[in-house]
Amino acid sequence: MKNRKGIILAGGSATRLYPLTLAISKQIMPVYDKPMIYYPLSVFMEANIREILIISTPRDILVFKELLGDGQKWGMKFSYKVQQEPKGLAEAFILGEEFIGNDNVAMILGDNMFYGNNLCKILKRANLREEEATIFGYYVKDPKAYGVVEIDKEGNAVSIEEKPENPKSHYAVPGLYFYTNEVVEIAKRVKPSKRNELEITSINEEYMKQGKLKVEKLGRAMTWFDTGTHDSLLATASFVQTIEKRQGMQICCPEEIAYKKEWITKEELSNLADRFIKTDYGKYLKELSENELSD
Ligand code: TTP
Repeated sequence: MKNRKGIILAGGSATRLYPLTLAISKQIMPVYDKPMIYYPLSVFMEANIREILIISTPRDILVFKELLGDGQKWGMKFSYKVQQEPKGLAEAFILGEEFIGNDNVAMILGDNMFYGNNLCKILKRANLREEEATIFGYYVKDPKAYGVVEIDKEGNAVSIEEKPENPKSHYAVPGLYFYTNEVVEIAKRVKPSKRNELEITSINEEYMKQGKLKVEKLGRAMTWFDTGTHDSLLATASFVQTIEKRQGMQICCPEEIAYKKEWITKEELSNLADRFIKTDYGKYLKELSENELSD
């Protein structure tokens, strides 16, 4: 199977979160008990994507390096790239050309969080699709504020519209995309839009034209949050808190995922836990390292 690498896009200007983000990165901000970027990172880990490029601004890239390092502590490999200005999501594949090399690639936005029962299965299907691209469709009551995808019976994208007045479906497109290696060349051909950005929709339209754009529906048991506004940031944090307190299980905890995938040993997990032992997070990891693995 062709290897697939991952890009987390964690730059942007985060103007909808001002004044919170006047001096710090959105994707480093807390979502209850962990930094925001842990959530999209965990999605890649669930998809068995271990080589990851983190793209951020000249101001913020150092903070991500300090937080995540080279990835070895979680049995992963992280590299970093600066995006000088927020020129659009599609620029990720131009900045990431060298990193991507001959592999396939997935991209996730650093402020998107996914949680739900079937996520692993859905990610696996997207991952196995080597010759086609996959985007996702999340049913929302009022899709006008999103990119909206229309889907045929075979799961192919038929149309995609950005923030349409009259949406053709209820399926919003979240910030997670699985592409073939050709995405690098496609991104290079994208022309800036009216708002002067390299739009991800242009890439999706190209795959659609070639009949190679699949859509995986995220069912009703799935939760998708975009944490880009004050209200959605708080709502996401409350959601995480509620589930974690009720179930006593962590949501999107990289150390746990790395351990369950056997990318790190029991001893390594235990050492990681020691550093946070004053918190419930640390105690949870410690317990995990002391007990037999369960589902
Ligand atoms: P947005 O939420 O569309 O933009 P933003 O984060 O700059 O926020 P705001 O609208 O409040 O000003 O971006 C989605 C994600 O993509 C987010 O994680 C930031 C990231 N991003 C980049 O890294 N580079 C870019 O050029 C753009 C446009 C976004």
